[in-house]
Amino acid sequence: MVQSKPNLGAQTGAPQAFSAAEAQQVIQFNHLSKYRTSEWYTGHGEIQASNDSRSFEVSASYTLKAEVRLINGVFDPNNTTLAEVYSRRGRCVAIVDQTVEQLYGKELRGYFEHHEIPLQLEVCRAWESDKTPETVHNLLRFLGKDGCDVSRNEPVLVIGGGVLSDVAGLACSLQHRRTPYIMIGTTVVAAIDAGPSPRTCTNGSQFKNSIGAYHPPVLTLVDRNFFRTLETGHVRNGMAEIIKMAVTDDPILFELMEKHGARLLETHFATLGEDAELAEIADEVIYRALFSYMKHEGTNMFETYQDRPHAYGHTWSPRFEPAVKLMHGHAVGIGMAFGATLALEMGWLTTAERDRIVGICTAIGLSVDHPILKNIDLMLEGQKNMRRKRGKGGLWAPLPTGIGSCDYAQEVSSGLLESAVDAHHQFCITLPNAGQGTDMYLSDLGLE
Ligand SMILES: NC(=O)c1ccc[n+]([C@@H]2O[C@H](COP(=O)([O-])OP(=O)(O)OC[C@H]3O[C@@H](n4cnc5c(N)ncnc54)[C@H](O)[C@@H]3O)[C@@H](O)[C@H]2O)c1
Repeated sequence: MVQSKPNLGAQTGAPQAFSAAEAQQVIQFNHLSKYRTSEWYTGHGEIQASNDSRSFEVSASYTLKAEVRLINGVFDPNNTTLAEVYSRRGRCVAIVDQTVEQLYGKELRGYFEHHEIPLQLEVCRAWESDKTPETVHNLLRFLGKDGCDVSRNEPVLVIGGGVLSDVAGLACSLQHRRTPYIMIGTTVVAAIDAGPSPRTCTNGSQFKNSIGAYHPPVLTLVDRNFFRTLETGHVRNGMAEIIKMAVTDDPILFELMEKHGARLLETHFATLGEDAELAEIADEVIYRALFSYMKHEGTNMFETYQDRPHAYGHTWSPRFEPAVKLMHGHAVGIGMAFGATLALEMGWLTTAERDRIVGICTAIGLSVDHPILKNIDLMLEGQKNMRRKRGKGGLWAPLPTGIGSCDYAQEVSSGLLESAVDAHHQFCITLPNAGQGTDMYLSDLGLE
């Protein structure tokens, strides 16, 4: 049967341009709450047509709610925090670090059994060398149709250190384009830095952390009881990230660390032995470090702004850390201490303040100097890499302007760099062990 073609021209006529009034109108589009399906994410925006009926502009913003909570005994059956989240969903889909599973798997399973919540668990080896796209793919298989088939509003539970929070967070960001997750950081780094961070990632073929997405957990639970089983070197590593916030943002945190840093290291944040007073101090230190970090990182979701104090100690270290295979915390310690001497040379800091910053690091065995700093070409290369990454041509190197404050250096000439390295070295040779820290080199599978 032959059908006659409809006469479209006759029906529609010539395209109608938007009227002038329509074109100038900005339409605010607020989606109604009765249509909302996510507890954590909202989105709205506006749309404006142009005069020529050939283009229009959309601007949209989205809001997310991310809570961070200190908690004591997360797997204690009497603690209902996790049960409240997962009982109404009828199950808990979880990803756990292999070592953490060996140490805490029984408690974890016992908790969900007690609350009669089915637990679907993926145990993931999460060494630094496992921080690869393949690991992310494996996790996606577990989360996807062939695995647990998580819904886009079902928060996945992630339990482990910074490596796991980075790769599992990235897998969640990819699953259904954005699946929420709840993070329990079991190392100091994951508890106060990597865990609540929006910056999920995996290592690329040449650069660490180069592939990723901005996707923070909707809830971060911080339970320092996990620190009891950490190697002391990993506790020290995490403390470098606390010191960076103390120096650049929180003078009270600085004083607490100055006074109690060594004891907190020795007792793994008051988890070895009974000391109620130190336990309170440990909680305050963790809370302050988290608050300070998330104030800056959590509100700057896409790293659009470069006023990022938490990058202190992280400007030159990404270049020299792998070159000499340093533990990350030690590389940050060297970066912070050198940054303090540079700030002194620039007139931003007094000698007494620089000495306090270096002292807070050495008191817990963090390194503050290394001969690699004398390789000025390598340091300049590090600056070049940072400039490219941080954008708009600036270096944006946070440097202290006192205890608890900082500003951002845009340019550090090779001459200034050289004289600061020299001055720093002259100062550090007067320190015990010439500023070398305890167990400063990687002993396991760091990224080659
Ligand atoms: N996304 C971010 O903003 C951000 C910030 C800082 C660091 N990071 C990343 O975090 C990673 C480092 O994290 P990390 O220091 O937590 O290291 P990690 O995840 O490698 O953990 C260190 C070791 O401790 C083990 N472990 C974890 N919890 C334990 C516990 N309670 N008891 C005993 N052992 C335990 C792990 O299995 C591992 O062997 C790096 O890859 C770094 O790039 C990311």
